[in-house]
Order: sequence, then C-alpha cells, then structure tokens
Amino acid sequence: MMKIAFIGVGNVGAPLANRLQKLGHQVTIAARDPQSQTVLSALALNPALLIQTPLAAIETADAIFLATPFAAIESALTPLKLALNGKVLVDCTNTVGANLSHGLQSKISGSETIQQLVLDARVVKAFTIYGYENFEDNHYPGYGDLKPAMLIAGNDPVAKATISDLCQQLGWEPIDTGNLAMSLHLEHMALLWIKMAGAQRNGGFVWARLQR
Ligand SMILES: NC(=O)c1ccc[n+]([C@@H]2O[C@H](COP(=O)([O-])OP(=O)(O)OC[C@H]3O[C@@H](n4cnc5c(N)ncnc54)[C@H](OP(=O)(O)O)[C@@H]3O)[C@@H](O)[C@H]2O)c1
Repeated sequence: MMKIAFIGVGNVGAPLANRLQKLGHQVTIAARDPQSQTVLSALALNPALLIQTPLAAIETADAIFLATPFAAIESALTPLKLALNGKVLVDCTNTVGANLSHGLQSKISGSETIQQLVLDARVVKAFTIYGYENFEDNHYPGYGDLKPAMLIAGNDPVAKATISDLCQQLGWEPIDTGNLAMSLHLEHMALLWIKMAGAQRNGGFVWARLQR
C-alpha cells in the first residue's frame, strides 16, 4: 500500500485517484479548495478519497501526482517546493499551445520545466499520452495477453520503478523510454493522440508494444 497524493483531480486526476484507491492505496486529494467542483466530483466518484491541505498531503505521501493545467504548475508547486524534496512527482501534465502545437515550442519539455521548479523532486512523466477516458477504463478485450502501453520517462530509476509498478497494477504495460528529456517526445505523442482522436471522433484507442 502506498500513500499517494493528488494535486489536481479533474478529468485526469479523478479517475486515477479513484482506481488507485480501489487497488488499496491510501489516496489523498491535496486540495487548495476542498469545496471546489473537481474535488466534490472526485469525492462523489469515490467517497473513500481523503482530503488534506496540499502541504499536509505532500509531507506524508510516497508519491504525488501532478494533474493540473500546465499553466498552473508554478502556483501549484512553488509553495510545496521544500516538501517535495526527494519525493516522487508524477507529471501528468501536457503543455499544449495554439492549434495543438507544443506549448513550449518543442524547445524543452514541460516535465523538465517542472523539474527546474522543484529541483530535488524525482519527476516521472506518466499518464499523459492518452485522453482521460483511457484512465477511466483501459480494458481492450480481444488482444490476449497484450496490454495497453504506458510510456514513462524520468531521471531517477527507483522512482520510475515505483511508477512502473503502479502502471502495472492499473493494467498498463509500463515502458521506460529513458531520462526526463524523453518527455518532449511523450508530449508530442500526446499531441498526436489528441489530433487522431479528434479526427476520428473517438478516443477509445491506445498504443501497444510488439517486441522481438
Ligand atoms: N484531459 C485529458 O484527457 C488529459 C490527458 C492527459 C493529460 N492531460 C493533462 O493533465 C492535466 C490536467 O488536465 P485535466 O483535463 O484533468 O484538467 P481539469 O479537468 O481542468 O482539472 C484540473 C485540476 O487542477 C486543479 N488546479 C488548477 N489550477 C490549480 C492550481 N493553481 N493549484 C492547484 N490545483 C490547481 C483544479 O482544481 P480546482 O477544482 O481547484 O480548480 C482541477 O482539480 C493538464 O496538464 C492536461 O494537459 C489531460
């Protein structure tokens, strides 16, 4: 059982928090406003989610999921900088610019930008390359043992192993793509997925790995 905190429980955070709690983890919403619509909806989805102030939630957590809009990273993380030292921080954000372009002009990944804000946190990018409907439900029957792939990236091997394990528990095949700089490619994968889902008006698809 892990203690997991969520900063942001909207489309992405709520289903992940819900499913992780149902797997037996202690999941806490690090709520800036316990009465916000997303917090109330997450609690309606799963009343067993705990609520604490962001600082209290982060201090006791083994892993923290960041699932806010990318534009909110500074205001969300700056007050928690010290508390995040040494903690596993799962970056679920995507930075999206005009016309579904990369929000930082592909010069640097959003995840490395987050790492620069919280230098001593162990940032792992994960749960970003698909739309949230796949975090609610990642069952794709009819493919035998083949599991949907969850590509992750990060600099800290132990942190990546922890998050790979959570991915597995959630039914994904975790694929470690390399260090945090690889996040730039994951962010482009997300844009690809969003454009494809938009064009076919269907987000019910994921990637899988076939490997020799
Ligand atoms: N939507 C998708 O399918 C999808 C898929 C993969 C990745 N992503 C990425 O995941 C992130 C979240 O997307 P979403 O669709 O879940 O967003 P969302 O539904 O708008 O939820 C955002 C959450 O962040 C919280 N938040 C906003 N500003 C904050 C701040 N300054 N400090 C602390 N918390 C703050 C909100 O809390 P309040 O209720 O208090 O406002 C809310 O719980 C984005 O970066 C997005 O690019 C989205």
